[in-house]
Parts: sequence; C-alpha cells; structure tokens
Amino acid sequence: MSDRDAGPDVLRLQGLRKSYNVGKPTEVEVLHGLDLRLQRHDFAALVGASGSGKSTLLNLVGLLDTPTAGELFLLGEATRDMDDARRTALRGGAIGFVFQFHHLIQAFTALENVLMPLMVATGKPGREHIDRARALLAEVGLQGLEQRKPDQLSGGQQQRVAVARALVTRPALLLADEPTGNLDSHSAAEVFELFRKFNREFGCAVLLVTHDPRLSEQCDRTVALVDGRIASDTAKAGKTEPEKGARVN
Ligand SMILES: Nc1ncnc2c1ncn2[C@@H]1O[C@H](COP(=O)(O)OP(=O)(O)O)[C@@H](O)[C@H]1O
Ligand SMILES: [Mg+2]
Repeated sequence: MSDRDAGPDVLRLQGLRKSYNVGKPTEVEVLHGLDLRLQRHDFAALVGASGSGKSTLLNLVGLLDTPTAGELFLLGEATRDMDDARRTALRGGAIGFVFQFHHLIQAFTALENVLMPLMVATGKPGREHIDRARALLAEVGLQGLEQRKPDQLSGGQQQRVAVARALVTRPALLLADEPTGNLDSHSAAEVFELFRKFNREFGCAVLLVTHDPRLSEQCDRTVALVDGRIASDTAKAGKTEPEKGARVN
C-alpha cells in the first residue's frame, strides 16, 4: 500500500527568503522567495553553482538558521516563529544531517558516535538504542568495527558512520550537503547507495546537495538553484512530477 499521500508533506517552503547581515550596510538577500514541497519517499538532488544558496537553504531546512521572510513547514508545523525548545526537539526528532566533513567525535568509538543523537535526546542510551545503533552500523557495512575510533577508519568508513549517526533517530528527512565531496568515486558511490537504501527502507525523504552529475542523475528529482531562485524542478522519467506552486491550506 502506498503511504505517499498519508500525513503532511515532510517539507514545504512558502515564499522563503533569507538575508544575511540584516540591518547592516552589508545586508544581502541570498534566497529570493522559494516554494518547494518534499513528500515522504522523495529523493531529490539540490544542484547549483557555488554561491547559489544551497547551503543556506539546507541550514534553514535543518532549523540551524531562521528565514527572513516566508514560511518553512516541517511535517506540517510552521517553524519560523517556533520557540527554541520546540525547534531543537523537531530538529533532533525529524532531521538527519550528513555534511561534507563527517564531524565525528574523535574521542568516541564508531558506536558511541552513532549513539550521540539518541543520547542528546534521551540521556543515557538503553539496550534498545545500543542494539539499533549496532544494527545500523552493520547495515552500512561496518560490523566488527564498532569499537574503532574515527582515526582508525578510512574516509569512506568514517562517512558511513556519519550516515548511520544521521539515521539513528529514524528521521523523516535526511539532509546531506555534499556528503561525498571529500571521497574517492568508489566510496562516494557506496555512500550514495546507502542514501538510496534508507530512502527505500525507511521512507525518509532525502535532499542531497551534490556537484556530481553522476549522483544527481541517480536521484528521482533535481531541484536547481540559480542565484537564490529555483530555476527548475524536474522529475526523472517514470516518477511523479513534483507539484509546483502548490497552495498551503
Ligand atoms: N554567513 C554569511 N554571511 C554573509 N553572506 C553569506 C553567509 N553565508 C553565505 N553567504 C553568501 O550567500 C550566498 C550563498 O552561499 P551558500 O548558501 O554557501 O551557497 P552554496 O552552498 O550554493 O555555495 C553566497 O553569496 C555567500 O557568499
Ligand atoms: Mg555550500
């Protein structure tokens, strides 16, 4: 049974704008009113030249920064005027992040790094959490390496730990900002495959910033930013056309 249409959109942007240095002589608007919807199971690439606003957009969607105007709905909740406690809870529960550099904690083992988001959310991890983290490490191909520290793992293995860490809370939305930009092409393909697999298995929506056309071509949908505007939003043949300019009820 398809649950594509069940529940609210994972993400909905409505006239989203972002300026930096507001009120200063250097004030500059870098996102100029974006409208976008992501539904469960969506697997979208976000592409665009350097400086087009991709990271700015991901930081807004990840609730790490706030828009200057417009609204950003996550799982149906308007986030712009949300208080910090709710924002932190929603970020922790609904969103997984993978960055270009993995930002693993060097003093922690692979297993402890994967457990971090659950520990932040709930304190000391219980048996169920540890089992879940171990299972995820196995799913990303790191069974037997749970006790290794990051510096005892290859770059590709470290990024796979970061993918497991991003998914341990079972987020509705996985955000990745050039997650393979620092990897050789073989490791990049492996990490990309993990995103595909988790998108299929968990139904989490994926928004993936990439410069690599070999990866964006494998996404179901490509959203292109040009100078802070969505210049195109195209679905791959055989996939449902993303609905553009949809109204918010
Ligand atoms: N903190 C900031 N303060 C001022 N300008 C910024 C800041 N962050 C990004 N910018 C500017 O916003 C624009 C978009 O940047 P960014 O979102 O990093 O683009 P991309 O990720 O597509 O390369 C660029 O012109 C950049 O210089
Ligand atoms: Mg960027």
